[in-house]
Amino acid sequence: MARILAIESSCDETAAAVIEDETNVLSSVVASQFPVHGKYGGVVPELASREHLRAIVPVVREALERAGLTWSGIDAIAATSGPGLAGSLLVGLTYAKAISFATGIPLIAVNHIEGHIHAVILEAVRRGNPVEFPALALIVSGGHTHLFEAREAGVYKLLGRTRDDAAGEAFDKVAKLLGFGYPGGPVIDRMAPYGDPRGVRFTLARMKGNTLDFSFSGLKTAVVRWVASHDLADEIEIRKRLFKTSPEAGIEELLAVTPQPTRDLLASFQYTVIEELLRHAASAAERMEDVRSLVISGGVACNSGLRAAATQASLGLPVFFPSAALSTDNAVMIAAAAFPKFRRGDFAPLTAAAEPNLALA
Ligand code: KG4
Ligand code: ZN
Repeated sequence: MARILAIESSCDETAAAVIEDETNVLSSVVASQFPVHGKYGGVVPELASREHLRAIVPVVREALERAGLTWSGIDAIAATSGPGLAGSLLVGLTYAKAISFATGIPLIAVNHIEGHIHAVILEAVRRGNPVEFPALALIVSGGHTHLFEAREAGVYKLLGRTRDDAAGEAFDKVAKLLGFGYPGGPVIDRMAPYGDPRGVRFTLARMKGNTLDFSFSGLKTAVVRWVASHDLADEIEIRKRLFKTSPEAGIEELLAVTPQPTRDLLASFQYTVIEELLRHAASAAERMEDVRSLVISGGVACNSGLRAAATQASLGLPVFFPSAALSTDNAVMIAAAAFPKFRRGDFAPLTAAAEPNLALA
């Protein structure tokens, strides 16, 4: 029996989890920083690392306690080494190194994006319906929009990536512009069913060079222009006030401060992002003759419109999504990605560095 304690701190969640033998989750703790960053409409790196410093000790302690273990019951300690915010990565990785140094428990460095892929692999195994390889993996979050070919778990080839904003970043920026607070993905997801997805026509970016690359900045600019030409200042101000007083506003409250044209805008924006993501996945699948499944993970994989569209799309592939809890950043996925490394004895030295731009392939 082997147990790994993992730490994730690459962005604005401080998380720790313990898993046993690849798939048995003994504990998972996630401390989110939404209240800290909410008023800025996005993650403020300096505040994020300060919050990680505050949270790291209690979060790791709680993960151990909930698993009913002490350090003597842990066989390896894993931490995200990149990609992510430098100051945030540093807190989790340095803490893991310190524990490793003090206890002699070996250290494993994990790529955050591979973590998102392993969240899906772990849950599929638990359901008794494992992901079949070769697979196509679409990782869509606040920091990443990447399309990989995965010949098997651990063997990746980058097929395309965003040249500007990540998909989640586009959700966050559009929500901020319209006064919907942070993070923007969940609120746009909830509002989109109340608008006409074809109410506002956006043209999708045509990529020169690698046609599997993504671009969301043109769409964002189109939204900015639409807002500028529709005199929305008053309703935006009303929503900002609503989010200040009740950040957890319910759908009725949101609808009450969102006239139909803005609902249509939100629905059309989300529809266009989903189109862009699935169109790329479909062309990648066509090129990869032997592909057997599509894995979609990362915070944006929570999106109900994306889930429905991917399942209905005629990709001819089984589509695998993580549960909502494992879509956004967590440490279970880091522990899951650490297990193959643990079995291979692929440990990291105590000199391992945080790598904000670490690539997966
Ligand atoms: O994976 P994640 O927690 O952090 C990163 O690695 O970036 O993803 C966070 C991102 C945010 O941009 C958030 O707006 C987006 O995921 N997100 C969503 C939804 N839930 C979270 N985007 C669209 N629809 C959602 N339901
Ligand atoms: Zn992530």
